[in-house]
Amino acid sequence: MVERLICTSEAVQERSLAYRFKLEYHGRERNAIVIRYGGHVYAYINECAHVPIELDYNLGDVFDLSREFLICSTHGAYYNPRNGLCLGGPCTGRRLQALTISEHDEAIWLIEEMKNE
Ligand code: FES
Repeated sequence: MVERLICTSEAVQERSLAYRFKLEYHGRERNAIVIRYGGHVYAYINECAHVPIELDYNLGDVFDLSREFLICSTHGAYYNPRNGLCLGGPCTGRRLQALTISEHDEAIWLIEEMKNE
């Protein structure tokens, strides 16, 4: 495994704008987001489980008004920030694609598998 720097911890504030980044995922470049919720950071491919388009119409704006859920700006699917499970909307029961990350040394890191691991 290797760690790749995504951003500083400071760049991802509690229930605030997501930090957007790109990564190579299953052979193609994808957009992803990091959010902070309950003091922990979570990362997902930035793609709704309903239709494969980005969640945020306004860049990084993925929390709903209550700041309790992630919400898709297109048709309103809402997700548990902790596990990406869709709790309501057109794709209830499906999930965002979660990424493995860690936070240490005041930064957030993507954990990547080596290609031949
Ligand atoms: S594209 Fe996200 S709810 Fe339809």
